[in-house]
Amino acid sequence: MPSITINGRKCEFTPGQTILQIANANGADIPQYCYHDGLSIVASCRICLCEVHAPNPKTGAIEPFMGGKLLPSCQQTASDGMVVYSDSPKAVANQKGVMEFLLINHPLDCPVCDQSGECFLQDYSYAYGRGVSRFQEDKVKQPKKDVGPHVFLYSDRCIMCTRCVRFTREVSGTAELMVMGRGNKEEIDVFPGVPLDNELSANVVDICPVGALLDKDFLFTQRVWFLREAPSIDGLTASGDNLWVHHNEGKVYRVKPRPNARVNKFWITDEVRYGWKFVHSDDRLRQPTRKQFGTPVTCDYAKAYDDVIEGIRKATAHGKRLAVMISPMLSCEEAYLLAKLARRLDPRAVLALGPVPTHGQDKIFPAGASETDPKAFKMYAEKAPNARGVRRVLGAFGGQIEEYDGFLKALGKGLGASDVGAVIATGNYPSEWATDDLTTSLGGKFVVLLDTLVNPLCDRADVVLPGATWVEKSGTFENAKSMLQAFEQAIPVVEAAKSEGQLALDLWAVLDGREMPGEAVRPMMLETTRGQVAAGVQVAVPFGTIFNAADVRREMARTYPALSVFESGVSMPPSEPSPQTDMAMVEL
Ligand code: SF4
Ligand code: FES
Repeated sequence: MPSITINGRKCEFTPGQTILQIANANGADIPQYCYHDGLSIVASCRICLCEVHAPNPKTGAIEPFMGGKLLPSCQQTASDGMVVYSDSPKAVANQKGVMEFLLINHPLDCPVCDQSGECFLQDYSYAYGRGVSRFQEDKVKQPKKDVGPHVFLYSDRCIMCTRCVRFTREVSGTAELMVMGRGNKEEIDVFPGVPLDNELSANVVDICPVGALLDKDFLFTQRVWFLREAPSIDGLTASGDNLWVHHNEGKVYRVKPRPNARVNKFWITDEVRYGWKFVHSDDRLRQPTRKQFGTPVTCDYAKAYDDVIEGIRKATAHGKRLAVMISPMLSCEEAYLLAKLARRLDPRAVLALGPVPTHGQDKIFPAGASETDPKAFKMYAEKAPNARGVRRVLGAFGGQIEEYDGFLKALGKGLGASDVGAVIATGNYPSEWATDDLTTSLGGKFVVLLDTLVNPLCDRADVVLPGATWVEKSGTFENAKSMLQAFEQAIPVVEAAKSEGQLALDLWAVLDGREMPGEAVRPMMLETTRGQVAAGVQVAVPFGTIFNAADVRREMARTYPALSVFESGVSMPPSEPSPQTDMAMVEL
């Protein structure tokens, strides 16, 4: 394999890679602003300039390449035997010069800047800057602009790397942003009357290396150094986009794309970025309820679980069956535990997939690109993360497995007659989901609802058990490309709610006759270790085994050969990055 040497370190590479790409892949330190793996190379910021030497093709002697001038490492393709220096006196002098020019008109407003703590300009000032400013004149002041529904532009912080402009031309294909003016009057802007308003618009905030483009939704809500991040998967659409969920003290503050070349490249849609708001909705179900004289009243889990088991037993006592509808918003592990519970309660139970919402058509960015283009990005019309995973799991159980229409028919839709006496329905959708068909088909049946948001079915159900959103639990989703991807729990489950997997395990324990804990609800701290284990504070005490997605996957693979893929074929999230502190913590 060909190799080059960067700052004394030998790095192998694939022909066609640039020096900077090789440096980034090998952890070698070369500063960079305008370069981005997902965009074209313009080599405009000039901070990545390096001193390059290469073997003379005739003599083999290592000599200065291209006459010894500094070369942009982001643009220069590597050749075997090159020797590169980003830390030579010449390269360092350039870095200091570039930093000085960039900071000439940059406001010193780090204390009030949202990007502070994750800003390349800030980091490179420490690493490559001068430490003092020699600039005596007045700074050029540029305006703050409202450029689109999700994005503010603080023009005076911009370093003109043009990443944002290239994004709107090459990725979204909408070209709303442009460079206007010349010299120190140069600024980013939108065309009059054409705001930055496309389905991918907020990605420009992620790629802006400084605090010029800001997310309106996150603006001034948290300092980034307070945020913790959990690797997650899109829990709202069939994309399987890889995410970081940034949270603090049990609250999600923002969602960012996690690069994955096979899935979302470097991007996510605004729909996925902002769709998590229902997690903290006032309409979240927080306590179990049961019907008392026809009215839903809150109760503890012991009473709710007893009612569920007793109600289902009574309703299925005379040849009637249980039907269980598993939402495509739930993970594969939860689908497995609920199906297993259903078949224990009634070996003839009908297992069905819940409604799979769609909205419009699939969309490819940029418009007109082929889906097979490695740079194309796809937005999915299917607004559920795991329809394929739930189908896969239910299929392994055999017996009567239905799609949503078949489930409604099994409940007696259109016929009036049905051999179903009890129903367990799961929701977990981010908005209203229960159709009139479903509500009318439930007439005369014992109904248990596992859901996250208040909805009309709550009044109809005999018992309601509060579930958890995907950021409150770990699990696996199968995306539209049939990739199984695991995700971690980011925040604790709201108040006394429990994940649907935990509810299934609790009901299993009640069926086993296991003794109930003395108090139904009390605070308790679980392991904070990463690795598919529930993390953080759990308020509701589990009755059964604690839900652990990794354990459930192993059981699935052991029990059903058709599910063996859950043992070895699941892409796991990355492990926690080690903290990189540049200062010692002092106990006061
Ligand atoms: S706004 Fe940000 S991404 Fe756009 S050119 Fe300026 S610094 Fe670069
Ligand atoms: S990163 Fe190479 S010139 Fe900007």
